[in-house]
Amino acid sequence: MTDTTVETVEKEVKQKHKRGEMITVCSAKGGVGRTTMTVNLAVALCKKNIKVGILDGNFMFGDVGLAMDLQAAFTVKDVIEDIEELDEVSLSSYFSRHESGVKILAAPDRPEYSELVTKDNVSKILDLMLTQLDYVIVDTGVGLQDQTLSLIEKADQVLMLTNLEMATLKNTKLMLETLETLDLRDKVTTVINRSTMESVINASDVPDILEDYQPYYIPNDFQIASQSLNIGIPFVINQRKTELAKAVYKMAEQLTSRREIKVYESEEPSFLSKLFQKSKRSKEGTN
Ligand SMILES: Nc1ncnc2c1ncn2[C@@H]1O[C@H](COP(=O)(O)OP(=O)(O)OP(=O)(O)O)[C@@H](O)[C@H]1O
Ligand SMILES: [Mg+2]
Repeated sequence: MTDTTVETVEKEVKQKHKRGEMITVCSAKGGVGRTTMTVNLAVALCKKNIKVGILDGNFMFGDVGLAMDLQAAFTVKDVIEDIEELDEVSLSSYFSRHESGVKILAAPDRPEYSELVTKDNVSKILDLMLTQLDYVIVDTGVGLQDQTLSLIEKADQVLMLTNLEMATLKNTKLMLETLETLDLRDKVTTVINRSTMESVINASDVPDILEDYQPYYIPNDFQIASQSLNIGIPFVINQRKTELAKAVYKMAEQLTSRREIKVYESEEPSFLSKLFQKSKRSKEGTN
């Protein structure tokens, strides 16, 4: 093994660390707050001076643009039309920029275009997004349809939104079981949205029901949440003092500290590079 090879391997290991983290936001039921969570989490992360992007992966009925009051000039459909030539630089010209600093790649503007979005195309787009952003938050369509499943497969972390309604919990449990079968369960954390809402089920019962013992809890505040979606201003911007916004900021904090720990751990030289170093040293010793 030559010195140049060792250097190349180490460079590759370092570059690998530079890849941002992909967080996919999904749910077994519609209307439980995926888009609300996506946009507010992205803005909360951005306030920490981190480069953040959103891919609106609800390719059929994406409404991230609406939730952020943005009229996207380009969508993922335009990116796909340019997929052969696509690189980091050209991709960034397709982003819409929110005043918070979050960069958004919007969903196609008509439901029928969602068929153009293939797994390979999205994978290439996400890889390019992740080379230039620290976090990419991905909103998704409801349930486990193919496009969402590939966004879950590719994610580093998955946030599974639920609420305290019996039907949502039943379907969330089924979706978690399916992800377990597919060996994808480990990267999923549940988010109990509207956790303070009146219900026969208490938020504190949910960890046992879903067998997920460290969920995130986001309180119920329909007035703030719904007004925020309707006017297109994420509540973490103009309602920072509310319990709702505070819970999202706390979540952003926890997500980044978990990542810092992970990056710190992975900065240990890899087994491969240790092995190369070892063989280099023993060669030097014998010469
Ligand atoms: N923590 C919360 N407290 C109260 N209401 C909330 C909360 N989070 C979201 N909502 C409300 O729930 C509704 C659905 O939210 P949202 O559109 O974000 O869900 P979704 O899962 O993206 O829905 P869809 O399946 O249509 O994409 C909205 O009216 C929103 O205001
Ligand atoms: Mg939505």
